[in-house]
Amino acid sequence: MIDNSKDAQRVQELQKENDNLKKIIQNNRIYTIEEQMSQYYSLTKIHMMRIIKELRLEEYDPKNKKRIKTLSSFFENLKEDVDKLMYPTDIIQSLDIDGTFLKGWLNRMRTISFINFKGGVGKTTICLNTAYAISKAFNDAKVLFIDNDKQGNASNWLNANLLKGTITNIMMGDASAKEVIQRTKYPNMDLIPADTGLIDANSAVIKNENINQGTILRDALKEVEKNYNICIIDNPPDINISVLNSLALTDEIVIVTFPDTDSLSGVYQMVSQINMVKPLNSKLNLKGILINAFTSDDSTYEAISDIKAHNLPIFNAKIHYATKSAKKNLNLARSNHKSIFEQYPNCLIARDIWNFTKELLNLK
Ligand SMILES: Nc1ncnc2c1ncn2[C@@H]1O[C@H](COP(=O)(O)OP(=O)(O)OP(=O)(O)O)[C@@H](O)[C@H]1O
Ligand SMILES: [Mg+2]
Repeated sequence: MIDNSKDAQRVQELQKENDNLKKIIQNNRIYTIEEQMSQYYSLTKIHMMRIIKELRLEEYDPKNKKRIKTLSSFFENLKEDVDKLMYPTDIIQSLDIDGTFLKGWLNRMRTISFINFKGGVGKTTICLNTAYAISKAFNDAKVLFIDNDKQGNASNWLNANLLKGTITNIMMGDASAKEVIQRTKYPNMDLIPADTGLIDANSAVIKNENINQGTILRDALKEVEKNYNICIIDNPPDINISVLNSLALTDEIVIVTFPDTDSLSGVYQMVSQINMVKPLNSKLNLKGILINAFTSDDSTYEAISDIKAHNLPIFNAKIHYATKSAKKNLNLARSNHKSIFEQYPNCLIARDIWNFTKELLNLK
């Protein structure tokens, strides 16, 4: 005899299992291949219709530069739409880190300096977005961002109020670190901003032989370091007394470079400088060289081989060269005082910086 009640019970159990599975899939944003394909397909269909509509409006004329420009920006936007659909929206949160890995550091602030003698290689872009990624991924970590560049690019990006004091005041001995540290709009990230006064401060410090010229910043931070887990320093493209001060308190150095000969010579100059600062700070360590504006050109691979031939560590993570739409978003992020993760969380640059951040912190 067939036991109907047992069957019904089994069906109920299976339904429950199925519902649970659905919940897991939804909660973790796991899409089946069919779902992904159908989303992609419907998007492609919409785009194809838009493309056809666009192209029909006018005959293609290779001399019509304005028209070509419109069309190419149109395609760039399409690329952005596809990216948005194909990648999860919040790459940082998707890792769901609880911050326990920071336990080892809780009693001591760890300082990471981003540096290269060469200007315009992406130091500020990468360092600021890395600081943001860390502050977002670890709610229980306190991040201190120090702008050590008289240009104040990072301060401007973070919407600093320079009237509240800057690193200049610390270097001049006019104010304590506590007095100049200001909050940012991110709850667990504070800032010491910079302004052009740093030029005068540097020359004043050089002239004053009665003080410990290389450790002013380190000494000033002593009173606040217990409040932070990580300190990130954005350095200028030169070597001066304030850079020396940042190296004196740094644990790990990240040298950011483009894969070209000029930027590489900045890397090698920096490496010899690090060795000179060692007597001032024995824990100073070159964590690695980070290739920015990575492309798959031969010249890039030659640059990487060159660095390896110098026996220098290179991060596995690379930051790709930002093509037009990503570049537009990088610029927008800056002018909107936002991180790239907030401006355009799915772009390749955001994903690259997140991968780099994980490698920097030795996360899997
Ligand atoms: N991966 C990239 N692809 C394309 N452009 C990039 C990339 N990274 C940074 N840039 C651009 O390069 C320019 C310089 O970047 P950034 O200000 O971060 O460099 P920097 O090394 O801090 O410069 P400085 O030496 O003046 O402080 C910016 O316009 C930025 O958007
Ligand atoms: Mg900079």
